[in-house]
Amino acid sequence: MLDEQQYLMLPGPTPVPDNVLRSMAKPMINHRGPEFKQLIEEVTEGVKMVYKTRNDVVILPAAGTGAMEAAVVNFISPGDKVLAISIGVFGDRFAKVAEEFGAVVEKIDFPWGEAADPEVIRERIAADRNREIKVVLVTHNETSTGVVNDIKAIREAVGNHPALFMVDAVSGLGAMNLETDNWGLDVVVSGSQKAFMIPPGLSFVAVSPRALRVADTCNNCRYYWDIKAALKYLEKGQTPYTPAISLYYGLREALRLMEKEGIDNIIARHAVYRDMVRAGVRAMGLRLLADDKVASSSLTAVLAPEGIGANRIRKHILERFNVVMAGGQQKLDNVIFRIGHLGHVRHLDLLAVLAALEIVLVELGMDIELGQGVKKAQEILLNKGVQ
Ligand SMILES: Cc1ncc(COP(=O)(O)O)c(C=O)c1O
Repeated sequence: MLDEQQYLMLPGPTPVPDNVLRSMAKPMINHRGPEFKQLIEEVTEGVKMVYKTRNDVVILPAAGTGAMEAAVVNFISPGDKVLAISIGVFGDRFAKVAEEFGAVVEKIDFPWGEAADPEVIRERIAADRNREIKVVLVTHNETSTGVVNDIKAIREAVGNHPALFMVDAVSGLGAMNLETDNWGLDVVVSGSQKAFMIPPGLSFVAVSPRALRVADTCNNCRYYWDIKAALKYLEKGQTPYTPAISLYYGLREALRLMEKEGIDNIIARHAVYRDMVRAGVRAMGLRLLADDKVASSSLTAVLAPEGIGANRIRKHILERFNVVMAGGQQKLDNVIFRIGHLGHVRHLDLLAVLAALEIVLVELGMDIELGQGVKKAQEILLNKGVQ
């Protein structure tokens, strides 16, 4: 094949822009010197811009799950009652991490493919008259199902109950709107390999002053993930332990791109991706797991047609066109395939991938007319414009 370019249509890791890749090839510097100080100060401000916050933000050398663990060990003590809201694999994970570190977790599960109902949470919170719940855990974008929770409404449902409100925004931040300060979110975690367009390896935690006060008395075990230590070092423009310097260079470059485009324009662009993919896939006669009202802009979960498993489609599109799509997780394995469309993706990439998918579906025996999906996606693009 002449063109070896891979279409990495995963909900993370996502494609990394060329200038970001090149920026990470710089020589090492002293992580306790003036250059690094400037670097960490610049990227911390940039990450705050994406988070829409003036709260403190720490950058951790970790996958997203590391940041989830940091959120737990800094703000939840063993024996604390935690209300975990789960709509899929990653909601379950947040609950599990809290449980592993000694929290008494009460989980509210919603069916996979649906969003959390704020009214159910409002009722549960109202019933907690003795204020026993210390923390509420919730996922912004549930990557296993392609559903986005209405974080603003859920936060409002918790109201003035004193529980800390902690959000896993690993795959949603930077692709969909999330207003850390305006919505009163106490702890928000995210990761580098999604909308931030850099390789895996860094994660972020935004922390409200209220959460920092809780950290003062939190007696869970922590050393590497000590957020107070990270903030103390940040005052000097350093990290407690040797940072992943190359990834910081990549992050600086990626944030410059994001700043240039503007966070709200980025969010609007991702909404167009969502609409293009959903319209395109539907026009091929396929069904989507999530309803339009709760559909993610980061990824789309597609139900595989009867008789053709999702994994056959993924294998075929990889071998035939070098397009990488994600599979379903756990009980959704072979039931859905997931098309990631966040970060450094272009509208034309999506048209190409939809065209490839149509050919693959025909080759696998589906009776569809070529071009219908691409046409619908083109129409969306024509009507909404290239953002
Ligand atoms: C919503 C969500 N939370 C947490 C994670 C965990 O991130 P990581 O795989 O970097 O540990 C992911 C990864 O896909 C995610 O999508």
